Amino acid sequence: MILAAGRGTRMRSRTPKVLHELCGIPMVLWPVRAALAAGAGQVVVVDSPERALQSVLPEGVRLAVQPRSNGTGGAVVAAVAQLDSTGADGSAPVVVLSGDVPLVSAETIAELVHAHEANGAGATMASTVLDDPSGYGRVVRDEHGAVECVVETKAAGDATPAQLRIREVNTGIYVFAGDALREVLPRLSADNAQGELYLPQALDLIRADGGTVAAHEVSDQRLVLGVNDRAALAQVRGLAQEAIHARHMAAGVSIVDPCATVIDVEVEIGQDTTIEPFTTIRGNTRIGEGCVVRHSYLIDCVLQDGVTVGPFAYLRPGSVLRDGAKAGTFVEIKNSDIGAGAKIPHLSYIGDADVGAHTNLGASTITANYDGRNKHRTTIGKHVRSSVHVSFVAPVTVGDDAYTGAGSVIHEDVPPGALGIARARQTNKEGYAARRDAPSPEPGSSGAQSS
Ligand code: UD1
Ligand code: CA
Repeated sequence: MILAAGRGTRMRSRTPKVLHELCGIPMVLWPVRAALAAGAGQVVVVDSPERALQSVLPEGVRLAVQPRSNGTGGAVVAAVAQLDSTGADGSAPVVVLSGDVPLVSAETIAELVHAHEANGAGATMASTVLDDPSGYGRVVRDEHGAVECVVETKAAGDATPAQLRIREVNTGIYVFAGDALREVLPRLSADNAQGELYLPQALDLIRADGGTVAAHEVSDQRLVLGVNDRAALAQVRGLAQEAIHARHMAAGVSIVDPCATVIDVEVEIGQDTTIEPFTTIRGNTRIGEGCVVRHSYLIDCVLQDGVTVGPFAYLRPGSVLRDGAKAGTFVEIKNSDIGAGAKIPHLSYIGDADVGAHTNLGASTITANYDGRNKHRTTIGKHVRSSVHVSFVAPVTVGDDAYTGAGSVIHEDVPPGALGIARARQTNKEGYAARRDAPSPEPGSSGAQSS
């Protein structure tokens, strides 16, 4: 179960905390995916009554509603009720994750479950040791090192000054024996500094019933950092980004300067592609092999193999650049299919267009795709040469092998192989400069004329 119904007040946001984006997907999806990857039989996410999370959850993941925000214990009560309503096996171990501890890995979960099975405890909590434990619940151990309890520190009054010096923290990740958990949940009380049902109290109650509580220390603390405010979100994002970069580099992608490159978690990149600094690759972008992307912003687009992009390109959703295509400097492309080997080298906006293979759109080619009410498509054939400073007023079609003249505003179709030219004819005024520079006549003299 993934606890995600909290208010997230420390984020100071109108958006629920766990819907804040982490590398292109809502934060809550990170632990959901880890749980699925770890082989959870059933995944339940606890939401508030607004059900803000419903629309982002993958198929098969259930939503439990916690009627009011009365603490992490209340969230688990709601999740257990949801599980039991579906006839889940009450003795199966229950793994509890937090929607705001996003970097937990499937391996960490599997390790924790393994430790829990090996130690036969009623509950096993994942703990870690932090240099700066502020904001976390602290793990209190007795003189034999056995876990005694967790004390909360978010509000003053729960922990003693001595307990505040403990650096071993509760990560908010646990495995419970299913029956022990169900046994103690009804006895959680809100008699504490925040007046909430604290899930860690379940550990005390299990011990009071004669069960054992174990703590399994996670050595890589980066995996269990909690996000309570925006500073922590930025820190966790940095760690997630490092892992994403490492995965691509291991798969044969050159990221010239990882510190100056943003790549969302769902992005796919082929071998021998080079990503130069100051590039952002977002959403579901897929990039093939042997591409070069320089100093550009890409979102939800597809680059096949051998494509070159930038510097300073903006590739927007629905753009497909086929094998060997090029989008150069100050080029924006949206919802367009750019054919194999086609080139758009400079200063262009191509929106809602189909551009055929090996076509060259010269500097400052612009599609006028929007008439103020509707978007229209521009269809440009293969091997077309647009020359420079050409506007295509959609809907319009240019046939294969056609040309358009520099400076044209093309609003009628151009047949295959033709030259479409649509601009005013030039006239030259001979002697203009000399006339302009001639001294102006004395005031009052007659015969002066301007031309
Ligand atoms: C919690 C733990 C603390 C631990 C820390 C680790 C409690 C009381 N404290 O503290 O020991 O060190 O996590 O990150 O459990 N939630 C609900 N419903 C609620 C309240 C919270 O679903 O009524 C969810 C939140 O959305 C969040 C998670 O539970 O995803 C943790 O809640 P939060 O308020 O952030 O707890 P912490 O103070 O961080
Ligand atoms: Ca938290």
